[in-house]
Amino acid sequence: MTKIIDGKLISGLIRDEIAVEVRKMMNKDLKVPHLAAVLVGDDPASHTYVGNKEKACQEVGFMSSIYKYPVNLSEAALLEIIDFLNNDPEIDGFIVQLPLPGHISVEKVLERIDPRKDVDGFHPINIGRMVQNMPCYLPATPFGIMQLIDRYEIETEGKHCVVLGRSQIVGTPVSLLMSRKHKPGNATVTICHSKTPNIKDICLTADILIVAMGQAGFVTADMVKDGAVVIDVGTNRIEAPEKKSGYRLVGDVLYEEVAPKCSFITPVPGGVGPMTIVSLLMNTLKAAKNEIYG
Ligand code: GUN
Repeated sequence: MTKIIDGKLISGLIRDEIAVEVRKMMNKDLKVPHLAAVLVGDDPASHTYVGNKEKACQEVGFMSSIYKYPVNLSEAALLEIIDFLNNDPEIDGFIVQLPLPGHISVEKVLERIDPRKDVDGFHPINIGRMVQNMPCYLPATPFGIMQLIDRYEIETEGKHCVVLGRSQIVGTPVSLLMSRKHKPGNATVTICHSKTPNIKDICLTADILIVAMGQAGFVTADMVKDGAVVIDVGTNRIEAPEKKSGYRLVGDVLYEEVAPKCSFITPVPGGVGPMTIVSLLMNTLKAAKNEIYG
């Protein structure tokens, strides 16, 4: 029997745990955690993400602020805004929503964020600390995936984990987390990408398949071993005129045909997606409590 990994349910449980923490802080007259987001330009998906983050903050009792700027904001001006947020004691953590307009260097921007406030976990210092297994902010999506694996008590030790995609945000960090000496972790990891031949054969050897390549329906039933665990990180927008939004979300996995072969699978929507935001909230709570950098 296939078990569906319910990210909506787990993210709701974690949200409740965070809300309890916030109430405890309020009872002690402590400042509640405050997350800020910087949004440059008018990418519709980015506006949706940032709006969802604001809503999630409200639900757990966090303060939130959104700083919105037009697409022609200069790189220098954005760096100044980051300096301002780095130095504002009111803000515990902040993110700069990606993608940024082409004239702004993402590297420069991410490096400018104070690692202590880098709740996205994208600063090279946080990435370096992750690699060294030191306390750090884990990037939200990989953190969310590890939470799902942990809470569903999925065995990873000694398993073969195949990761499709090597992005900085998902594929590369999740590969590292799955292989590190830790529970969950201790898996043997293979990363596949656009230059990998015979992806299908490699996928067929996966006990755990994590798919983060951004190609709707890439993984088909003939690529999945019986009893595999499949984690679908894809969030592809497909035109759907019957929907109010005009689109629907589909994953990188052809769910209908793959699900019956799996021991566990994440649906899209309602799998990894809801975990990403709650991971950001967890990081913001850690920032407010100075848990990483003391
Ligand atoms: N764009 C897509 N995912 C993310 C994320 O996790 N953080 C930021 N800052 N931008 C994103």
